Amino acid sequence: MNRRHAIQGLAAAAWLPPAGAATNVAPLPDPSLSTRDPERYWDRIRKDQFLLPKWRVFLNNGSLGVAPKPVVQAVTEYLEKSAALLMEEYDYPRWGYEKLDEHRTELAAYLGCSKNQLAITHNATEAISVIAAGLDLKAGDEVLMTDQEHGSGKAGWHVRRARHGITVRELQIPLPPRDPAQLADLLIAAISPRTRVLFFSAITTTTGLVFPVRQICDAARAKGVITVVDGAHLNGQVEARIDDLGCDYYAGSPHKWMFAPAGCGILWGREEMLDRLWPSIVTGGWDDKADQGARFMRLGTNNRAMIEGMIAGVRFAKAIGVERIYSRIHALARMAREKAQALPYLQLLTPGNDTMYGGLVAFHMQGVDLNRLMPLCQKRRIWILRNQRLRLSTHIHTRPSDIDLFFETLELARRA
Ligand SMILES: Cc1ncc(COP(=O)(O)O)c(C=O)c1O
Repeated sequence: MNRRHAIQGLAAAAWLPPAGAATNVAPLPDPSLSTRDPERYWDRIRKDQFLLPKWRVFLNNGSLGVAPKPVVQAVTEYLEKSAALLMEEYDYPRWGYEKLDEHRTELAAYLGCSKNQLAITHNATEAISVIAAGLDLKAGDEVLMTDQEHGSGKAGWHVRRARHGITVRELQIPLPPRDPAQLADLLIAAISPRTRVLFFSAITTTTGLVFPVRQICDAARAKGVITVVDGAHLNGQVEARIDDLGCDYYAGSPHKWMFAPAGCGILWGREEMLDRLWPSIVTGGWDDKADQGARFMRLGTNNRAMIEGMIAGVRFAKAIGVERIYSRIHALARMAREKAQALPYLQLLTPGNDTMYGGLVAFHMQGVDLNRLMPLCQKRRIWILRNQRLRLSTHIHTRPSDIDLFFETLELARRA
């Protein structure tokens, strides 16, 4: 290690939380504080429940969230327990051959779906890939999607296009859209006689738009079209139940908004639709349809500590209160949206309708050089999505001062 690196290493070490910081987690503040003095309540949540240092301004939960202390603690404890083999004999400290019924039951109750139709995966990318690869589609069949899909949403269908000659059609979404009905009408009207699958995000990736999923899925089903919903941003950002969405297949990434450690995903399908899906990663039991969702968890040996962490994240969310979390996330996002709206050089992509966004606010900039803004953000330790459009994510660890600092930095970059 050269001297410069050694010094950087020392400086970084000084910023780190003390070793074992996640082992003694303080109890949650009294919920009544959240109404008496909300800023104090959320400040205590950030300080006591997260490892984020004071100096970190984290506005990019949309890419990957940060695990709170109880989640870090659950992962660490499980790793220690498994290294000591403290579990019952033959209860291997892994997942990939097990059905994990208890874990799935708890997870399903939070997600609002049946345990039997739920599979745990590593992320939404994997779940969407399995769905896209596993449907019987032939040359000429059409998959319809929006132009707002994430690369991980598109790619599985693109493979089918390259390999099996299906067609993939992208529909342009107006930015910002007028209202949910406009989004629903556009998607439903675009279904053609060749459309076999309609694929869309419940909340879009770089623009954070909340789609009227139920309305779209009901109309698609009436036309005999299979619906696949990318819910990477849904669970944990807004209140939603998978059972209420009306889709055929669903993919999610609990490590974004649900406090799970990185490497946690979900795949869900209606019972008869799971039967129709060919699995991609397989071992013995791949054709045992009685296993329903669990058939898609037979992936070989995997790290169970991550699943323990995901369950700890679900308990953490429930202990704070799903409604309280949503209200906070959205109030902060609304604050960010209002600040953006007041600046003439920003073009908002997020509509004002509160039902059309949760904790993501996006805009285009005019007259601000990204090459000036990004180094300034880095200097001030502001973590945001770097893209051709800017997107801020707000979660319960976000402080109003984080949003202020970002907009001050933007103004500084514009004037520079
Ligand atoms: C809408 C959407 N779908 C899928 C993904 C992929 O998620 P993951 O990397 O967790 O698989 C993302 C990631 O940002 C996303 O925004």
